[in-house]
Amino acid sequence: MTIQPRQVLVCQYQNCMARGATELLEQWQARSLPENVELVASGCLGQCNLGPSVQVLPDQVWYCEVKPRHIDLIIEQHLQQNQPVQALLNPRFHWNGVLPRDH
Ligand code: FES
Repeated sequence: MTIQPRQVLVCQYQNCMARGATELLEQWQARSLPENVELVASGCLGQCNLGPSVQVLPDQVWYCEVKPRHIDLIIEQHLQQNQPVQALLNPRFHWNGVLPRDH
């Protein structure tokens, strides 16, 4: 089976950096990622007040307010099992009737 290449974009622009995106990227870099997953330090993803922002491509899945403690969950559920982590989805793109949560 061919594994589709993916990119994980971790915003490294002003607002997200003020909310911990530098450490978040360092923690991502310290992880062993699944085959065909590339980690990218990105510019602003346009979701500044919900940062740190992470986008997974080509899935078009947007995560918001991502903390280092969420990384393993995203790797396991999304990147390995193809199940995006519902609790971390950016409601601007993935509105499911549930208000943003405390996580
Ligand atoms: S600064 Fe990160 S989304 Fe804009």
